[in-house]
Amino acid sequence: MDDELNALRRTRMRWNTPLSEAHASVLLDRLDLGEGPHLVDLGCGWGELLLRASERAPALRVTGVDADEVALARGRSAARERGLAVEFTSSDAATWDTPVERAFCIGAAHVFGSTKAGLAGLARVVPSGRLLYGDGFWAAPPNPAALEIFGPDTLTLPELVDTAADAGWRVRHLSVADQLEWDDFESTSRAGWEEWLAAHPADPRAGEVREWLDRRLREYVRDYRGVLGLAYLVLTR
Ligand SMILES: C[S@@+](CC[C@H](N)C(=O)[O-])C[C@H]1O[C@@H](n2cnc3c(N)ncnc32)[C@H](O)[C@@H]1O
Repeated sequence: MDDELNALRRTRMRWNTPLSEAHASVLLDRLDLGEGPHLVDLGCGWGELLLRASERAPALRVTGVDADEVALARGRSAARERGLAVEFTSSDAATWDTPVERAFCIGAAHVFGSTKAGLAGLARVVPSGRLLYGDGFWAAPPNPAALEIFGPDTLTLPELVDTAADAGWRVRHLSVADQLEWDDFESTSRAGWEEWLAAHPADPRAGEVREWLDRRLREYVRDYRGVLGLAYLVLTR
């Protein structure tokens, strides 16, 4: 799909994870942001949660790292519009080697290779301080199609908590996305293209877009709705 359509697909999403405004606010509370001074988000996407953190704690130095130029451009533009001094850096997040006091890594542990490698790598990024870690887990036993989509490395929630403990983390907060957060996430992830398709039914790209939208909805309701969970952990050393 071309850059124009790629940029359009996520425009209706608040952030690229199943998370309500109220839930996000609780997570930021638990991070004690005021104690910074440096917060980094590894795999930040367009960094909306970072922008919220910067609004809450203006003295924080705030850096987002991602490899997706379209997402980074959206983040930079939003920061400019809101007068926030958030830095957006284009690089492989796995190469970040500056220790910080606060970090986010949400839906991006795969950057390090796996959940286990991510939690170990993040322990070096946050040697003391707080990490907001978001990761998928099996909320119910997966069918073969869900296993195919999300891979055999996905853990159960007890396994995820044990893996964090093995990497030396203490769990200060744990919450999971609820069904409404998931349904909103899935619906908004399709909404940008649904709107485009309704306005451009005769465009040569319409068939491919319709196919993608139909497959995503089918996979969600048949294969992973209620099966894949998303856990948010606030971790300390
Ligand atoms: C599921 S999204 C989550 C984005 C963001 N954390 C959020 O919650 O909105 C995963 C992000 O990881 C980024 N990513 C994937 N591989 C990366 C890499 N090697 N280095 C930096 N970012 C990467 C993707 O571009 C994407 O923005």
